[in-house]
Amino acid sequence: MFKLGVIGVGNMGEAIVKGILNKGILNSDDIVVYDRIKDKAKAISDKYGVGIANSNALLTKLSKIIIFAIKPQDLEDTAKEIKDYLTEDKILISILAGTSSQKIKANLGKNINVVRVMPNTPALIGEGVIAVSYDKSLNDSMKDYINRILSALGKVYEVKEDLMDVITGLSGSGPAYVFTFIDSLAQGGVKKGLPYQLALDLSIQTVLGSAKLLQETKEHPMVLRDKVSSPAGTTIYGLHELEKHNFRDGIISAVETATERSKELGKN
Ligand SMILES: NC(=O)c1ccc[n+]([C@@H]2O[C@H](COP(=O)([O-])OP(=O)(O)OC[C@H]3O[C@@H](n4cnc5c(N)ncnc54)[C@H](OP(=O)(O)O)[C@@H]3O)[C@@H](O)[C@H]2O)c1
Repeated sequence: MFKLGVIGVGNMGEAIVKGILNKGILNSDDIVVYDRIKDKAKAISDKYGVGIANSNALLTKLSKIIIFAIKPQDLEDTAKEIKDYLTEDKILISILAGTSSQKIKANLGKNINVVRVMPNTPALIGEGVIAVSYDKSLNDSMKDYINRILSALGKVYEVKEDLMDVITGLSGSGPAYVFTFIDSLAQGGVKKGLPYQLALDLSIQTVLGSAKLLQETKEHPMVLRDKVSSPAGTTIYGLHELEKHNFRDGIISAVETATERSKELGKN
């Protein structure tokens, strides 16, 4: 019996295996993987020393906790392959974007324990936001155990499932907003004479350092903003320009619209 079976070892599946092993949460002989691309599964097995199953059915039979790291469009087929082996004593963790636990259970045709997770792309380097919701009551030690497994991908936040759409609009899509901000900051530097690479490095470190300052001081963002805005200084001039271009309004609307889109996609 394996402690964890990972179905689909693409970007996220590999990040999960790698993170769990790097952080010493489980050993390689606790984990088994399967991917419909056989060479991919073999490469992961060779690289990390984890077990390899020759079907989703066998993986499910042999694992206590199963992680779905496939694309949402592969849910129906994968559910068919595993449903006969997914007994009540097992737990299914799904990282499928926009896919409710209700929909997963409907595809499986049984009321199994489904843990829904919404990661974001920094999870690929263990720095993600990992929102998790438990649809059935699990005892605290089991929740701690699952949260520890998920911590391989980043910081874990337990939430109610009905918050998953707004979390998708905020932290799920958030890295794309931040990347756009970083590039815009760099382009401003280029416009005023900096070479792009230097401008980009300065922008990345500015965002990274500012986020860490917020995290470590626990100050309100507006308090820290006011501290760098000296009277008639450069920053207040720059901030005024952002206000004129509805910077905050644009970001609030981005989260709002992405949330609505997540709801819409979840209905399909
Ligand atoms: N990447 C992110 O940052 C991110 C963020 C949030 C959520 N997610 C969620 O994470 C999930 C995985 O994303 P990903 O980027 O890791 O996808 P990915 O790189 O495409 O990996 C999925 C892997 O699973 C394989 N697969 C598909 N159906 C299978 C089946 N029935 N049995 C076994 N293996 C199967 C795929 O094979 P094929 O290539 O043949 O399809 C592929 O190798 C998605 O549901 C996504 O919504 C990802």
